[in-house]
Amino acid sequence: MARILLADPDPNVRTTLTRVLASNPPELTSADGLPAALGRLDEGEFDLVLAELDLPGGGGMKLLEQIVLHHAGTAVVLSSAFGSVRDAVQAMRAGAADFLAKPFGDDQLLVALDRALEKNALRRENRALRSALDDRLRLDNLVGSDPRMQSIFKTVKAVADTRTTVLITGESGTGKTLLARALHSLSSRRSGPFVEVNCGALPETLLESELFGHVRGSFTGATKDKVGKFEAAAGGTIFLDEIGTSSPAFQIKLLRVLQDRVIERVGDTRTVPVDVRIVLATNLDLEQAVKAGTFREDLYYRIHVVVIEMPPLRARTGDIADLAVHFLQRFCKEHGRPVTGFSKAALQQLLAAPWPGNVRQLENVIERAVVLAPGPLVEVADLPTGIGRLALPAAAPTLALADGPVGPLKDALAGPEKQLIERALAQCDGNRERAAKVLGINRSTLFHKLRKHGIKGAGSHG
Ligand SMILES: Nc1ncnc2c1ncn2[C@@H]1O[C@H](COP(=O)(O)OP(=O)(O)OP(=O)(O)O)[C@@H](O)[C@H]1O
Ligand SMILES: [Mg+2]
Repeated sequence: MARILLADPDPNVRTTLTRVLASNPPELTSADGLPAALGRLDEGEFDLVLAELDLPGGGGMKLLEQIVLHHAGTAVVLSSAFGSVRDAVQAMRAGAADFLAKPFGDDQLLVALDRALEKNALRRENRALRSALDDRLRLDNLVGSDPRMQSIFKTVKAVADTRTTVLITGESGTGKTLLARALHSLSSRRSGPFVEVNCGALPETLLESELFGHVRGSFTGATKDKVGKFEAAAGGTIFLDEIGTSSPAFQIKLLRVLQDRVIERVGDTRTVPVDVRIVLATNLDLEQAVKAGTFREDLYYRIHVVVIEMPPLRARTGDIADLAVHFLQRFCKEHGRPVTGFSKAALQQLLAAPWPGNVRQLENVIERAVVLAPGPLVEVADLPTGIGRLALPAAAPTLALADGPVGPLKDALAGPEKQLIERALAQCDGNRERAAKVLGINRSTLFHKLRKHGIKGAGSHG
């Protein structure tokens, strides 16, 4: 049933409207002036407003304006006994669905109402589709339109409302923690706690009591009963980070929780059932760790239920620009800076950089740039020199020499020099003596240049 507001003091219009819609009577509300009409609109949403152009108290155009501004889901049909073509055009331009000249026949009115309601329904559907689309592209506050990220978002949505154990793998800074939080906030446990534990950071003895709690007197220093993180996370999610470096003893305990969903406080023989969703993360290759004997194979299989691999940023360069803009906007707000975007050259560098620190590194680079940028755009000069140099593809030095503004010779040659030294070291397996020979310079010159260019990681021999 359509909800219609009639904003017309003329009793004839009401009669016609009621007659026309007799077979499918709407929920009809009347208002005989602009203030009354606005009041009704504030009280509830309408599908359609039929308004007189010469509405007492301000006019139908004023009403139309307010509806367009504040009630986007409501269609408006204006009518007038003295309306000109110009009035009609003006009304349509301002957003009216139709304009009727009075007196109008039943058919005219019916057609106008039908069309307006239909257009409205389409517009609503459109809006719903668009927001569904936005929803697909974004998960909580995770940016990622790369197909791999999209498929991750899909997985997260699919498993969010279950109690399935989820393992998130990926290099440092790829968004594992953020994803774990998103998973929690999308689940029905969202009003429960999200408890984070770094399993690699705590010494074995402490970790156990941290996670499972202890009873008073169970060890020196245990002066009170203590509730562990597993119990604290009841009804919510526990996020076990850096699971790859946890101790063997801890791994056994964890296996027990995963199998039986019960814990035992340290020093207590009673078992306590725990209702938690377990999410784990690691930046290690667990398969490798199993082979190396540092990670239990049975635990490995137990946590391999749903595995989400976060791709490194360099494998999804399509997301770099979106992420850069996302961080730019956030840090501009945070630091009250008026930076609006990136120069073409700066963006180019961001896109080409290898990002070994992944999204976290990009985030830091953008924050620094937002704070430093003197103008409205982030320029190359506002980016750390390191990423610029790393960003140059192998052939770039020649290109840089071939065109562009000429600067100091020393600076222009620094890039190619560094690359040649790195290549020489790589060819000589890091042996500096041989590298110096290949380059035709003596050892102390090479040492000097290694320091100057900040080249590390070369072998210490030679
Ligand atoms: N897809 C993304 N969209 C927006 N911000 C992101 C995204 N991925 C990561 N970030 C941001 O990058 C930073 C690093 O992410 P996060 O801490 O989740 O990485 P991590 O994989 O857990 O790293 P670590 O292994 O070091 O714990 C955070 O500030 C996070 O908000
Ligand atoms: Mg993390």
